[in-house]
Amino acid sequence: MHRTHTCGELRIEHNGQEVTLSGWVQRSRDKGGMLWVDLRDRYGITQLYFEEGKTDAAIMAAARSLGREFVVKATGTVIERFAKNPNMPTGDIELQVSKLEILNGSKTPPFTIEDVSDGGDDLRMQWRYLDLRRNPLKNNLMLRHRIGIETRKYLDSLAFMEVETPYLIKSTPEGARDFVVPSRMNGGQFYALPQSPQTFKQILMVAGYDRYYQIVRCFRDEDLRADRQPEFTQIDCEMAFVEQEDILNTFEGLVRHLFKTVKGIDIAGVPRMTYDDAMRRFGNDKPDVRFGMEFQDLTPSMQGKGFAIFDSAEAVLGIVVPGCANYTRKQVDELTEWVKRPQIGAKGLVYCMYNEDGSFKSSVDKFYSAEDWKSIAQTAGANAGDLMLILSGDLNSTRKQLSELRLLMGSKLNLRNPEDFKPLWVVDFPLVEWIEEEGRWFAMHHPFTAPKPEHFHLLETSPGDARANAYDFVLNGVEIGGGSIRIHDRDIQARMFNLLGFTPEEAQKQFGFLLNAFEYGAPPHGGIAFGFDRLCALFGGVESIRDFIAFPKNNSGRDVMIDAPSTIDQKQLDELSIALNIKS
Ligand code: AMO
Repeated sequence: MHRTHTCGELRIEHNGQEVTLSGWVQRSRDKGGMLWVDLRDRYGITQLYFEEGKTDAAIMAAARSLGREFVVKATGTVIERFAKNPNMPTGDIELQVSKLEILNGSKTPPFTIEDVSDGGDDLRMQWRYLDLRRNPLKNNLMLRHRIGIETRKYLDSLAFMEVETPYLIKSTPEGARDFVVPSRMNGGQFYALPQSPQTFKQILMVAGYDRYYQIVRCFRDEDLRADRQPEFTQIDCEMAFVEQEDILNTFEGLVRHLFKTVKGIDIAGVPRMTYDDAMRRFGNDKPDVRFGMEFQDLTPSMQGKGFAIFDSAEAVLGIVVPGCANYTRKQVDELTEWVKRPQIGAKGLVYCMYNEDGSFKSSVDKFYSAEDWKSIAQTAGANAGDLMLILSGDLNSTRKQLSELRLLMGSKLNLRNPEDFKPLWVVDFPLVEWIEEEGRWFAMHHPFTAPKPEHFHLLETSPGDARANAYDFVLNGVEIGGGSIRIHDRDIQARMFNLLGFTPEEAQKQFGFLLNAFEYGAPPHGGIAFGFDRLCALFGGVESIRDFIAFPKNNSGRDVMIDAPSTIDQKQLDELSIALNIKS
């Protein structure tokens, strides 16, 4: 028998029992006549104890030969510790070892396997199995497992049925590039890996499976960021015979269930905000509503005073940073440099300190008198002691830039506590957006999203004004989920494809299967997909999803442990009818 207990299990109640443990050597301390070894497994750490005179000499020698990460099996008697460790669940006891077997040796690991490791990102990714032995990663994966289980329990209780959809499919347009897989049996033809099971789940609705879900891998060939991986997991759901309200309520229920069961937190409700309000108040369709600092439109109050930059701008927008009038010149200069970086792209920043004594000090004192500032401060809702930060330009860019600045100030003022959870539904998204470079309309969510029925008539006349029954679930400024009520009428779907620039032939070629399905009794339906990795990361208190995925890719999309992607040999290429033409 390899073990009677795990390394996290033994307590003072086990005092005097003979037990066997197996695990990895975390570290050992040799104090001459006495030797302690910390033995670790998934469940915890137990201290092994060896003492000259009491422990057999051969076992003493074997214990001294143990290196870090050796795999050992130890049998002995549980004894009460002389020096207890209240920080360890097993800290009251230790195992006085009478038998020791080395099950396997280990090379010295390239970084320390402790909660805080000395290994850099690349090193840890390359030896991922060693990294996964560390508590922080283990806890993340346990959290992920728990969220998955609770998701299944909740959805099962509401009669949702998990159905698997294929991975080798034809491309579904979700906005990103597809990963493609060549077909050997159909030379020159390719499958695409699904960006999501969108069309399949709609077809399942036509098939009558009116409550579907799947915890499913999705693949998108897009630029990577902290919250994006090329393969990631969705909690993908679809319902038939529902309206938007039913979907929002059902999935608000899921979120509440997860918070309650996994984090012990009661979420009172999920407020809703329209897309237009989110953009106007926060310049962002996924606002972080843990703090205020809402946008103030200062266009009318700041134009016409001779400051040409503002006078010629489409929008002059500001935020009020509470209690920061005491910022030094150096601090505001740093903020100015920050917004001027290419990633943000502002031309400059106007600031005004509303001093405690009621006076004003701004970077544009030449153009604005104290009287002017008084009325601007009133418009902006600023009080003595506050700092006003103001940007101008075209409306969209100014919103984007000020939104970044707002988030920065929120972080600087510690208003973005990761344990403070503020969920939000953003609703009433525009149906389509005009992409200038492409010279055509693009679906804001995807081409299967239904316009609001009262906006059907805008499809041909004024598509930019049409709003969709589309919604995002946002948590602490991160888009966690998105979905919509779908089009279930063949004619509306054809009009939508037409708006998106597909000829009827192209639409038939790419989506004929769906259009055809709509002719065989498609029920009204809609759904949502949550980013499972993002949800896990936020529950774990961070925004980066990488350490919530057992085997993630690095920023260049590589798995450095298995060294993928990699070349394949000529024989394989020939079988796939592929001739390479790599431009260096
Ligand atoms: P959407 O494209 O909004 O919707 O994706 C749903 C959620 O998936 C997560 N997500 C990602 N997570 C990690 N890495 C990525 N590269 C990545 N891309 C997306 C986000 C996002 O909110 N078929 C629709 C859903 C529907 O309409 O029902 C869809 O895929 O958290």
